[in-house]
Amino acid sequence: MMLFNLLLLLFIGLVNADFSFSPRVYPSPQGGRSTADADWEEAYEKARAFVSDLSLIEKVNLTSGIGGFGVCVGNTRDLPNRNMWGLCLQDGPLGIRTTDYNTAFPAGISAAATFNRDLIYDRGMAIGREFRDKGVDIALGPAIGPIGLKALGGRIWEAMGADPYLQGIAGAETVKGMQDAGVIANAKHFLVNEQETDRLKVSSNVGDRALHEIYAWPFADLVHVGVGSVMCSYNKLNESFGCENSYMMNQILKDELGFQGFVVSDWGATHSGVNAITSGLDMDMPGTAGMLQSQSYFGANTTISVLNGTLPMERLDDMATRIMAAFYKVNLDQIREQRGPPNFSQQTQNDTDYLYPPVEMGPMVTVNQHVDVRTDEAYRVAYETAAEAVVLLKNRNNTLPLDGKKVKKLAMFGKAGFPNDFGPGCGSVAGCQPEQQRGASAMGFGSGAATLPYFITPFEALNERARREKTMVDYSLGLNTSDPSFSVPAQISHANVIFAMSYAGEGEDRENYTLWYDVDKTIEAACKLNKNNIVVVTSPGPVDMEKWIDNPNVTAVLFTTPGGQDAGQALADVIYGDQNPSGRLPFTIAKDTKDYVPLSTSKNSTSPQDDEPEKVDLLLDYRYFDQKNITPRYEFGFGLSYSNFSLSNLHIVTLENPSEHLPDPPQWKEPYHSNDTSVSATDALFPSNIKRIPGFLYPYINSTSQADKKGSYPFPPEYSTKQKSKPSPAGGASGGNPALWKVAYNVNATVTNNGDRAGKYVAQLYIGYPASDKFPSPPKQLRGFDKVELEPNQSTEVSFNILTRDLSVWDSVTSSWIVQRGDYHIYVGSSSRNLELHSTIRI
Ligand code: NOJ
Repeated sequence: MMLFNLLLLLFIGLVNADFSFSPRVYPSPQGGRSTADADWEEAYEKARAFVSDLSLIEKVNLTSGIGGFGVCVGNTRDLPNRNMWGLCLQDGPLGIRTTDYNTAFPAGISAAATFNRDLIYDRGMAIGREFRDKGVDIALGPAIGPIGLKALGGRIWEAMGADPYLQGIAGAETVKGMQDAGVIANAKHFLVNEQETDRLKVSSNVGDRALHEIYAWPFADLVHVGVGSVMCSYNKLNESFGCENSYMMNQILKDELGFQGFVVSDWGATHSGVNAITSGLDMDMPGTAGMLQSQSYFGANTTISVLNGTLPMERLDDMATRIMAAFYKVNLDQIREQRGPPNFSQQTQNDTDYLYPPVEMGPMVTVNQHVDVRTDEAYRVAYETAAEAVVLLKNRNNTLPLDGKKVKKLAMFGKAGFPNDFGPGCGSVAGCQPEQQRGASAMGFGSGAATLPYFITPFEALNERARREKTMVDYSLGLNTSDPSFSVPAQISHANVIFAMSYAGEGEDRENYTLWYDVDKTIEAACKLNKNNIVVVTSPGPVDMEKWIDNPNVTAVLFTTPGGQDAGQALADVIYGDQNPSGRLPFTIAKDTKDYVPLSTSKNSTSPQDDEPEKVDLLLDYRYFDQKNITPRYEFGFGLSYSNFSLSNLHIVTLENPSEHLPDPPQWKEPYHSNDTSVSATDALFPSNIKRIPGFLYPYINSTSQADKKGSYPFPPEYSTKQKSKPSPAGGASGGNPALWKVAYNVNATVTNNGDRAGKYVAQLYIGYPASDKFPSPPKQLRGFDKVELEPNQSTEVSFNILTRDLSVWDSVTSSWIVQRGDYHIYVGSSSRNLELHSTIRI
């Protein structure tokens, strides 16, 4: 029987040793069939009632973008007969983009570096409120992919660290906060979108186990807390584009992870109509087919496909129902009634604009009401996140915090701390392009950037703080270190602060790990002149510090990821000790840059293959360094404090020993069948009372003959419209089989602050799985963290819940999770390499 099952699975392509292609899985699981997701039930009831009344055209409108010229970055068409204006989708993960009077929060990577769940939730809530109050329905964040496989990846700062557990917890807290505020969150980018180079065509080739245990893992956390939407990615995944990959969307996302919301394409990532839709795509954005502004794979083509019988109406109903279920889940019906439509336009900063901007048609209408959505709470969260994200890497002889009584002369060097010649955002809605980045940065560039209401540079904040101490301040931005403007202050100051940076964004990976503006030379020169040099690095990802890190005259090093509007203030407060640093590295910093996973560059190929993910397999970030016994410069999870903490009393309580195999998942309800699926081509004709505006996309057909059946659609042999009767063994509820989410063990330990300052400490729990030939696993993996605040001499308990999923490996043979029998090593410590406490659990 086992053998038969294996052969069957091999046959249908679900087991695949090298996984060089993506198997096809149909049909797309219908939403709302879960019996274990009480929080979706009411939303589905309302959504079904709403959708059952809609015409074909209205359903198409809900699922298709209107093109690239709406007030939001993505828009669906109005449903005037339902008293519903179109849905507004807007970037991005660190705050609302292309508008004004909004907060520019620290980036996702910085939220992750705080390792502070409550603060991450608060950040999500504060972000969500601003989107809600600007009139956005679907906020395009958080980014929980890239996972951080490529240290040079241009967008790793948007996402939440090089570890699936960290991304999962940080992403889920963000989603909870955003959706509690009343906006649909969007988990992006699904999946293995690890580099910007060739992002529109590269195939990321990944093994099935890593796909589940590393890349899809954090998405399960977000689905578990009810995220309303997921964005499929530009890249191919095992040779099939993310937005038409049925294994990814139908099998993993909608079946195994039990996702009840809707999948929206990345902008222009849709490459087909029927193929994408039957593979699980529910909404196409912005609606245009690639760069062809007036054509769409969805829109009228969806209408035609339903009318000619290619696309079952039931699938279109499911798409519309999933969208509306997410809508009702976050109470958008009530919120929209109180708030009204979007009160801004991403097309212009002016108050008014043409009704149809691309063609300058229609009356001028007020588009930007300049609603101030900021709150004191948002500013608090932005500042505190920036402060708690600062990582102290080196602090010889307690150089930091600076004592204003001793440091009476302070000098600052390095462009990275000073105002940018081109302004903080370079006047662009996409932030500063690298060639304009000539100073301190608050964020990266691209769709993940937001307008800064202000930006406090490190120079501004330190200058102000030092002045209050009556400390003399000097600085030089000259790159010539023999110039007296550098050499004199560098020599006579009591402390030099040298700012170093690197920068990245959407569409452009970093070229190397080198710090910008030759700052290595500045640091080396300063070290020759002065014994007290503090280096501050701001970077989206790991950088090479090897030239100077061991120099004894580099007395302190601080590492910051993009910190938003208050980045400089937060830094100055840490430097002067108003804040005790408590950030932890959300990735590993290597000694040898060869130990990072390189970008895949095959510029001339039309179908570039990135096999690197498959080669790395499960060994993401610190897992690789651990497995290969390579000592990093600074390990994942590392960060110092101005206090000293100790850990003791590891204590494990067994709540429920997990079984080896998951119990059967909760059954699905019978598929839903709408009563009336009859449609008429005549009803879908372009109405004579509507004027066609160039540049906008419509759901209508021009002639009924477009609906005629012409030949047959080349469905693959696996294609089926018959809904499965039950979920996959791993599925059955939001986030997967509920048994995965059961708390199996509770782990406690005591933390004591032995220092003379109050401070925060991040206790980290790592698990090493049993040695196994069948499921070789990384030496250890993060499976818990708990941040606590302690006064001097105070002790407190840290506590971790180990869930069944935290002990599970993905078995491609049974397509499910397994908890192996054997000894599990439980480590609790201060970083991935400093694990003070150890015990084992025998299962
Ligand atoms: C492309 C980006 O990849 C995505 O993250 C963003 O949300 C959309 N563009 C919309 O701007």
